[in-house]
Amino acid sequence: MASAMKLTDRQAWQALQAHYNQIHNRHLRTLFSEDPKRGERMNVEAVGLYLDYSKHRVTDETIRLLIELAEEIGLRARIDAMFRGDKINVTEQRAVLHVALRAPRGESIMVDGKDVVPEVHEVLDRMADFSARIRDGSWKGHTGKRIRNIINIGIGGSDLGPVMAYEALRHYSDRNLTVRFVSNVDGTDFAEATRDLDAAETLFIISSKTFTTLETMTNAHTAREWSLSKLGDEKAVAKHFVAVSTNAAEVTKFGIDAKNMFGFWDWVGGRYSMDSAIGLSTMIAIGAENFRAMLAGFHAMDEHFRSAPFNRNLPVLMGLLAVWYNDFFGAQTVAVLPYEQYLKRFPAYLQQLTMESNGKHVMLDGTPVDYQTGPIFWGEPGTNGQHSFYQMIHQGTKIIPCDFIGFCRPLNPLGRHHDLLLSNVFAQAEALAFGKTPEQVKAEGTPDWLVPHRVFEGNRPTTTILADELTPESLGKLVALYEHSVFTQGAIWNIDSFDQWGVELGKVLAQRIIPELEASTEPKLAHDSSTNTLIRRYRERRHS
Ligand code: F6P
Repeated sequence: MASAMKLTDRQAWQALQAHYNQIHNRHLRTLFSEDPKRGERMNVEAVGLYLDYSKHRVTDETIRLLIELAEEIGLRARIDAMFRGDKINVTEQRAVLHVALRAPRGESIMVDGKDVVPEVHEVLDRMADFSARIRDGSWKGHTGKRIRNIINIGIGGSDLGPVMAYEALRHYSDRNLTVRFVSNVDGTDFAEATRDLDAAETLFIISSKTFTTLETMTNAHTAREWSLSKLGDEKAVAKHFVAVSTNAAEVTKFGIDAKNMFGFWDWVGGRYSMDSAIGLSTMIAIGAENFRAMLAGFHAMDEHFRSAPFNRNLPVLMGLLAVWYNDFFGAQTVAVLPYEQYLKRFPAYLQQLTMESNGKHVMLDGTPVDYQTGPIFWGEPGTNGQHSFYQMIHQGTKIIPCDFIGFCRPLNPLGRHHDLLLSNVFAQAEALAFGKTPEQVKAEGTPDWLVPHRVFEGNRPTTTILADELTPESLGKLVALYEHSVFTQGAIWNIDSFDQWGVELGKVLAQRIIPELEASTEPKLAHDSSTNTLIRRYRERRHS
């Protein structure tokens, strides 16, 4: 592949560097006092999401230059290539078409000469039918009892999306169903998830794109043994196990009938798969209508991303701001702070989405990058984080851009709770931006020696995202916003945001170590001296 022009040599990049040198010390206090209407201007509203970016260390010129960079690297063409089904995952030679998972019936998206949208809807219809049968009790377990417990077994993208969506949309879920998730190969995960359940009322969804993942297959076999030991009949598998996968051969080998399999396609990346059949547990929990509303939310954001001008395009602006801090300010991390308890797993979900996508060290042509790529994502729901790590965001030595996410209407109105919650969103963003000067601290009567400790430097950048209410639809919009922001960043950095070679080496080494741990006689070890010693110590103590 021909080498593309180096990002850091691009005119727009160099203009940004020069601009950064000029403005990086400007304080948000100054920016706001010079332009009192900044907060009314520097926001974008689209498809029901409101994004305030005025508390960023940017001027209109910064935004103009960032957009120039997006244009110079050909972001528009990259977006079109994704939506068109081009094989933009170059290292795996695959199309990247999670947007097809939420394309409305009747739209057409071609992959290798075939329209994939009808197949998407065929699977969605089968999922809807199956979900309805579980929800109305007409799908019976092996002993004739109705299914009351759903356990999704999967890991990574086959777990984090479903868990996040289940938690996020719990308000809309059927409370007569117990929905749990087993991901870790640590036996505790399975043991705790099943200890109080009746196997006769429990359905396992084995979710794995490849159907070969060590953790998932180990848990799936344990689930099979658990069910069969309690139900005592091989035939029970047909009523208590369904599979979600792209690998029909492995599913059949496991013993799940192909008619109990819900398929998807190699053009759906694991971390982009929550809208595919991987979302079966979500659909069972919230019902097909709500699931489709979530897809409509995703689609609305897709259309916005595809068509809105860059300066009014939520994911583009978010992605460009991420590049601005990551590459020019040297920010290492981004904190995601949802002020919504139902979004408690959203940061964990975003960690895979952002870090597996953009944690890359070479460009598309394989040459090393000479700039920083994806930042570390982390976070906790507000207000809990305020009483743990916000101290560092306010007064530490690191710059940590924050995404605050809030909803105007509560799902559980309870006295003053919601106003108190949202007052904290606004207060935190305000405190981070404007801080408190030594003069202000002194004027409060603080003794001189204590003043430096009580000063808030401010100038800490934040985005505030507001939606009216957490609904299946608004969740879809929010997730798609981050998906496309990640895409925008990856396009600027010229990396493959859709492969994940970095997870392979550990998997391979574990396969080598397993027999060394399980051998009945002392194995000959040929690792480094640290690994050898750890293995020996484990073996000595494992059964003592
Ligand atoms: O190991 C990483 C990964 O490949 C993720 O990208 C993926 O989401 C996860 O493993 C699970 O893979 P599968 O769905 O094939 O079990």
